[in-house]
Amino acid sequence: MKTVKPSGPLKGTITVPADKSITHRAIIFSSLAEGESVIRNPLRAEDPMSTLAAFRLMGVQARDGEDGEIIIRGNGLRGLTEPSDVIDCGNSGTTARLLCGVLAAQPFFSVLTGDASLRRRPMSRVTGPLSEMGARFLGRDSGRLLPIAVQGGQLKPIRFVSPVASAQIKTALLLAGLFCDGVTEVVEPERSRDHTERMLPAYGASLEVDGLAVRVTGGAKLSGMDMTVPGDISSAAFFIVAALIVPGSEVLIENVGMNPTRTGIIDILLEMGADIRIQNERTVSGEPVADILARYSSLKAITIGGSVIPRAIDEFPAVCVAAAFADGKTMIRDAAELRVKESDRIRAMAECLGAMGVSVEELPDGMIISGVKNLSSGRFNSRGDHRIAMSMAVAGLRASGDSVIEGDECIATSFPDFWDCLRRLQGGGN
Ligand code: S3P
Repeated sequence: MKTVKPSGPLKGTITVPADKSITHRAIIFSSLAEGESVIRNPLRAEDPMSTLAAFRLMGVQARDGEDGEIIIRGNGLRGLTEPSDVIDCGNSGTTARLLCGVLAAQPFFSVLTGDASLRRRPMSRVTGPLSEMGARFLGRDSGRLLPIAVQGGQLKPIRFVSPVASAQIKTALLLAGLFCDGVTEVVEPERSRDHTERMLPAYGASLEVDGLAVRVTGGAKLSGMDMTVPGDISSAAFFIVAALIVPGSEVLIENVGMNPTRTGIIDILLEMGADIRIQNERTVSGEPVADILARYSSLKAITIGGSVIPRAIDEFPAVCVAAAFADGKTMIRDAAELRVKESDRIRAMAECLGAMGVSVEELPDGMIISGVKNLSSGRFNSRGDHRIAMSMAVAGLRASGDSVIEGDECIATSFPDFWDCLRRLQGGGN
């Protein structure tokens, strides 16, 4: 439990933790590669550590380097061994779904489980198409929910037209496709984050992107490599929004990943009138990176929907907080996926902001938020969802009194030093 007080201006320069999606992928691809990989600036938070623990349980050797890097010695595509225990994915949907793709192709038995939040999240979106490829899954609720047991084996390639834009579905199937003879294809309705498409060829996979379709040809050998993970724009989002809503703030966030499939949050906030500048643009390990300067701004309401949704999918709790301070009614549509994240984020943000005096109308696939001038303080439950906890901490900076965030421990899944970053900016320091 943490108490958040109304805040003076946030000032200074911070870096945010490394990108969670890229760290998961680096651990997985390095574990399937031959030889040594060095992952520099990995995210050392609970979610990617669940992925690392899973591969250790399957015989992969990993150690820490002197500068915080993770060094993985992969045994190649066919080098995993049967885990002797249940694999615990913790709170991490990415771990569970991407592992389903890998485990589907292994000649052994494995079982996946997770925490209470993950055990409520839909898995059939990956186990369905992977079953079509030939894997066998048994799980709760007719195989829809964890714990799920997997009997993998030789798979056959498929063409899968996904009903949702999801990088987890796409990556799970492409991972399974690495083990197939022939071409596995995934087609999305909108483009989801493309870290897999950027990273897998660098490890040696044969992969082709064609509009909204991605194809992998199985059998190529993966080789270990040396890469550097940029800061996570999803973590930066909380301090960008904090700077925009707390009067007098000016915050510079250095070394943030700016992959165009992830920068929907910047486009949304700019359209709302935010004073955000992108500086020092560069490329690191095949990913665009920049520094982001955000200043207190007067925001206006907008309508958000369509292809920007997957490009900002994890940032909507933070967007909701910005919308609470915008002039007018902000409408979010086409975002039903928010209901199956670490919590039902539409319901969670509607309830939490509602308790602060913001009028929020829930829609099946989004919400309408009417901006206010002042927020009342309150007691907010994180629902075990790191992004709800951090968003409500940011909202609390502008509340009329002290707010309490219950269950803030979940922040450790993605942003272990969130409170330190906040304190540093409140102290105006670097
Ligand atoms: C992720 C994909 C997204 C995102 C999640 C991380 C990934 O999920 O919400 O936090 O690393 O592939 P979906 O694929 O379910 O949209």
